[in-house]
Amino acid sequence: MGQSFLSVEGLAKRFPTPGGETLTVFENVDFKVEKGEFVCLIGHSGCGKSTILNVLAGLDEASEGAVIVNDKEVSGPSLDRGVVFQNYSLLPWLSALKNVTFAVRARHPEWSKAQVLEHSYRHLDMVGLRGGAEHRRPAQLSGGMRQRVSIARVFATQPMLLLLDEPFGALDALTRGVIQDELLKVWGETQQTVFMITHDVDEAIYLADRILLMSNGPYAQVAESVEIPIPRPRARAEIVEDPRYYPIRNHLVQFLALRANAHAGQPGARRPGGPLAVRFDDFGQPVGEEASPEPPHTLYAVDTQKERIVI
Ligand SMILES: Nc1ncnc2c1ncn2[C@@H]1O[C@H](COP(=O)(O)OP(=O)(O)OP(=O)(O)O)[C@@H](O)[C@H]1O
Ligand SMILES: [Mg+2]
Repeated sequence: MGQSFLSVEGLAKRFPTPGGETLTVFENVDFKVEKGEFVCLIGHSGCGKSTILNVLAGLDEASEGAVIVNDKEVSGPSLDRGVVFQNYSLLPWLSALKNVTFAVRARHPEWSKAQVLEHSYRHLDMVGLRGGAEHRRPAQLSGGMRQRVSIARVFATQPMLLLLDEPFGALDALTRGVIQDELLKVWGETQQTVFMITHDVDEAIYLADRILLMSNGPYAQVAESVEIPIPRPRARAEIVEDPRYYPIRNHLVQFLALRANAHAGQPGARRPGGPLAVRFDDFGQPVGEEASPEPPHTLYAVDTQKERIVI
């Protein structure tokens, strides 16, 4: 192991319970992310996604295992790893603008005040936060606006690794679409690596090169790694025409509905080679023996044409 940009090896998180026992939220979590790759992590609430992201950020410690970024073990936070938290985490005493300029100044201490301001305003513009709202403090902003400040802040600092914890959860559909496209643009221009948690299956297929599927805890694992071979740039209106779209979507939905719970509550074996690799060919057929899901596709009927599946 070791050549990938990000390598997660044997990660586990355990908590002591009030009864003196140990709660294992997840264990045997192994996966890799290549430089410039866009990876989404999907799993049910409480399985440990945010905990994994916080460990990647260096803000939480795993009970076992290691995270290696760029050949170095993560042992604390770094400006090379930018985070959008699930609860936004803005500095409450600073305005939206100052939340961004503060981070930009930390990243580029050599920049002039005018440069910092210009750069910060450009990123606030990108997320549609101007017209006076930038001078308000977080408590005076809506949840969606706070989320946009948090996104502007992380885009503006251009970290090597973007860690996004449900970054669009509080946004209306229109704003979400606009900012998803901004994210794809920023990512396309900067060669950043993105690790993003989402509950939205369609969002994950639209954005990701690969989707990691996490099973339910206790003893959760990253069970599958599903490639999204749909070519880029992806057009929102046309992506559903791709013959792979619905087979992939059904696979993800079936995992969440059926397979995610298969091993919950029991210690699982560590899978050599990491999560099960799932691939679909150009016609939407699963490729190779590893790709044939258990149970077969037809068992779980979803109205895939109409429903937007959000777990
Ligand atoms: N201090 C703690 N003591 C005991 N259990 C904890 C503690 N902190 C977190 N947990 C448990 O760890 C699990 C994982 O939490 P985490 O926030 O990572 O989940 P998540 O997958 O991000 O969920 P969501 O989708 O709801 O955001 C949860 O079941 C939570 O109850
Ligand atoms: Mg979470």
